[in-house]
Parts: sequence; structure tokens; C-alpha cells
Amino acid sequence: RNLKWIIKCRGDIDTLNAPFLEIYESLIPPEEEKAKQKQLLASLEKLVCKEWPEARLYLYGSCANSFGVSKSDIDVCLAINDADLNKSEVLLKLADILQSDNLQNVQALTRARVPIVKLRDPVTGISCDICINNVLAVVNTKLLRDYAEIDGRLRQLAFIVKHWAKSRRINETYQGTLSSYAYVLMCIHFLQQRRPAILPCLQGIEATYSVTVEDVECAFFDQVENLRNFGSHNKETIAHLVWAFFSYWAYGHDYANSVISVREGSTISKRKKDWTRRVGNDRHLICIEDPFETSHDLGRVVDKFSIRVLRGEFERAAEIMQHDPNPCIKLFEPY
Ligand code: CTP
Ligand code: MG
Repeated sequence: RNLKWIIKCRGDIDTLNAPFLEIYESLIPPEEEKAKQKQLLASLEKLVCKEWPEARLYLYGSCANSFGVSKSDIDVCLAINDADLNKSEVLLKLADILQSDNLQNVQALTRARVPIVKLRDPVTGISCDICINNVLAVVNTKLLRDYAEIDGRLRQLAFIVKHWAKSRRINETYQGTLSSYAYVLMCIHFLQQRRPAILPCLQGIEATYSVTVEDVECAFFDQVENLRNFGSHNKETIAHLVWAFFSYWAYGHDYANSVISVREGSTISKRKKDWTRRVGNDRHLICIEDPFETSHDLGRVVDKFSIRVLRGEFERAAEIMQHDPNPCIKLFEPY
């Protein structure tokens, strides 16, 4: 299994840096898009505060974690401090308010795993999902954004991996493949494992930021401006990292025994987490520990069919990176 993992990278890998960087740059959202998102958030805040003066709105997900590509939808969390709040009632009320303010396609999905109100703003053309009190998501958004500030290669790698996953249609949790959030954690873990390491383990350094959310203590080192040189001993380029990322997930990762853990900055054993067998719908065929909700395996959506699809895609990508004369085209070919 590990034979191919130690195979030497193709000799001309660095000729691929320029084309990969070009793809990365083409995916970065332009400044005016960010401004429109802020504008929409401000107008939503006004509406919400009329009904719930104490409430706050937070951006989370890709529009706030710095891993958002151009033209993404935005994710918003409405935080209301009320112990006996009925989420469905609030969502329906919220949908009412938004509807009467001429927002389009307003829809309350009260029975989804994460209940939300969906809407489209006709002024900016942006679509938006609003959830209630999902504060853990706001905190993990900050963790991802802080990691991105340490070394620019994380954002480059994650954009390329997300773009690949969307092109190959393996970024669909309802189809048993992985969320964008899971792919970004895979990238962070991978860069923590390089030697010399490109990223530190922020939850392993004395915490400078700490909040308790739903009984989960979320603590990590967040003075990342002091870590800007952390990865500078490692000179690996983006093309080399893309190659190594896919080789790792194709041939290097021990799917049978290992869990990837950004929290620990390493892999840990499935046995230690008791993730060795199927429990209910959690099959643990690829294990990605959530950095804060540590009993949560982000790979739990993956079933015995979709694991074959996923691993097939990792192997395809690894082969292309090793042998194809034109990897930047072939890799992203629509499925
Ligand atoms: N999230 C989470 N737990 C999950 C999935 C998502 O906490 N199992 C939260 C994370 O804060 C994540 C956000 O929901 O950043 C949005 O998830 P997702 O849509 O997977 O990621 P995005 O970064 O928004 O990616 P995309 O650009 O594809 O929208
Ligand atoms: Mg999103």
C-alpha cells in the first residue's frame, strides 16, 4: 500500500506552479463582491434588530473563513440569547419579516439537520442561508481563517482542492461525499504533517482565545501574526503540495486505522476514538475529527459506495499529477 506513497515526484513538477497559481487567482472573489456581502449583512441586521433588539448576526462558512471562491452563497448565523427559544418559531417569524421586505425566494427549512431560512437578495444578487444559534460554526470559521493567515499555501491548496471536488462532484454530503469544511480540514491536517511542518497545531499551543459554546470548550492560540514565518523552512511549492496531497489520500493514508485530527496536529487511532465499526448511520470509513465537536466524524456521511467513489477520485488525481502531460486541465475535467 505504501509503495507508491514513497515514489518520487515527477521531475518537472515546478513547471506546474504558474498554471496552478493562475487557477487559484481566478477563483479569488473580487473586492466588490465582499462589499456587497457586507451591504447585505448590514441590511439584514437592521431588519432582525427591529424584532429582536438583542440579537446579533455573524457571517460564517466560506464567506468568512477566507476559503470562499467567487460567487459563493453566504452563510449567516442569527445569535439570540434565550434559553427556551423555539428555533422553528424563530425561523418562521424571520421568514415572515424577510418576505415582507421584498427579499426573494424566502424559504424556511425547519426540518433540515441544520434548520435554516434561505433567501435571495435582488439588490446584490446574493443568496444566503440563515441559521439560528449555530455558534460552534462561527468559532470553527475563526479557526480556519486563523490557519489561513499563517501560510499562504493553505489557501492556495484549499482553493484547488475545493475546485477539484466541485468539478468531480464529490462535494455533495447528501450523496455521501464530503463537505467543503471537511476538505479544508484535510488540507490543514496535511500541511501540519509536512516535514518541516507548514502549519502548527493552534489547539496545541497555549490558548489566547477561549469560549465555551454548548458545553464545548473552544480554546486555541489565535495570535497568528506571530506565526507568519512558521512554515518558512519548508520550501515546497504549490504544485508539489497538490501532488503530495493527492498521493497521500490515494496511497499514504491508513483508512482502516487512522483518524485525521487537526486538534491534535496528527493522526490518531480509530480504536482510541471507538470509531472502529458502524454505529447507527456512522460508518467511519474515512475519519475526520471535528476540531471542537470531537465526537463528530465529518466522514460519517460516507457510505460503502461513496467511499469507493472518493478513493477512486483521489487515485485518479494522484495518477494525473504524476503522469499527465497537462494536469491542470485533466484534474478539473467535469465528471
Ligand atoms: N460546518 C460545520 N460542520 C459541518 C459542516 C459545516 O460546522 N459538518 C460549518 C463550518 O463552519 C463551515 C460552514 O458550516 O465553515 C459551511 O460549511 P460548508 O458549506 O461545508 O463550507 P463552506 O466553507 O461554506 O464552503 P462552500 O464554499 O462550498 O459553500
Ligand atoms: Mg457555504
